[in-house]
Amino acid sequence: MTDLSTYYMGLPVPSPIIAASSTLTSSPVCIAELARNGAGAVVLNSLFEEEIVVELNRRKESLNALNINHPEVLEFYEKLDVDEILNDYLKLIFEAKKSVDIPIIASINCVSPGKWHYFAKYLQEAGADGLELNIFTLPADMETSGQVYEEAALEIIRNTMAELNIPVCVKISPYYSGLGNMISQIDSLGVKGITLFNRFFKPDLNLDEMTIGAGPVYTDPSEYLNTLRWVGLVAGKVECDIYASGGIHDGLTAAKMLAAGAQGVQVASAMYRNGLSCLPEIIKGLSNWMESKGFEGINDFRGMLSHNKINNPAAYMRVQFLKTFAGKAEK
Ligand SMILES: Cc1cc2nc3c(=O)[nH]c(=O)nc-3n(C[C@H](O)[C@H](O)[C@H](O)COP(=O)(O)O)c2cc1C
Repeated sequence: MTDLSTYYMGLPVPSPIIAASSTLTSSPVCIAELARNGAGAVVLNSLFEEEIVVELNRRKESLNALNINHPEVLEFYEKLDVDEILNDYLKLIFEAKKSVDIPIIASINCVSPGKWHYFAKYLQEAGADGLELNIFTLPADMETSGQVYEEAALEIIRNTMAELNIPVCVKISPYYSGLGNMISQIDSLGVKGITLFNRFFKPDLNLDEMTIGAGPVYTDPSEYLNTLRWVGLVAGKVECDIYASGGIHDGLTAAKMLAAGAQGVQVASAMYRNGLSCLPEIIKGLSNWMESKGFEGINDFRGMLSHNKINNPAAYMRVQFLKTFAGKAEK
């Protein structure tokens, strides 16, 4: 009999299979369904920094139009806005907490270290068990160095953590020029975990209509390898937990992420593609594999195949296809 219980963001959870932030985690009804299907915890759909900032600016403009620009009045309005803007999100946290007994992790999508971090504490007050900061700016500006993007992300994390007592984890993209060092810098801020990686809208071109539109929204099951490499490379070398996200569609892939050192495994696309019943399938697949190996609990094998424990760590670092590999692939 296998025991899948573990900790996620330091909180006890019945299984390491976590419902990732998506539109499937944006209603209390769906969240209850996720819990019934065995999710260990739920990361809520992100609240967008832009939504807060746009609303804040709109209100400031209307104050300016009235020639009210006294700093205290503006500050009062900023705080007043918090309640109004976040109302629905706070209600979601509150309702979700009432309907399930697994951890509810709030999520903020953020790009700049502006004033919005102030809002994070309302999420904590509404009952969120933790906060995932979903940080991303496309580093496309030709004049801006990678260090500038990195420092902005670190400032967001510092500012937000200063507001909160609940655990904070950071979901990042793989698009940092020095990814290993960036992970180490985030870790040094005292976060509870780092989620590798977020997935983004990707544009695609329509050559019939000569227009630009959306590429595929969901991952397919072969897309887990980059996440697996980085989980394996950094898990056990940082103080914080590492959570895997990206291409996890079945129990064996979940088992690989855990063996590489992940403390938890987030699932999104599989739920869209196969329905919420994919969760019990993934859990069963993981459990069956553990049983076949004689592992009774997650810690019996977690991290066993990470870069710092595996027999041939160089394989994690290999990037070029050698002739021998190319020959095998062709057969
Ligand atoms: C429709 C959709 C909506 C998503 N919304 C969010 C979001 O609000 N915040 C976030 O951090 N990630 C969001 N994600 C990314 C997922 O949480 C996840 O990191 C990504 O899809 C990779 O995992 P997967 O292969 O299991 O889909 C979304 C993904 C999808 C497919």
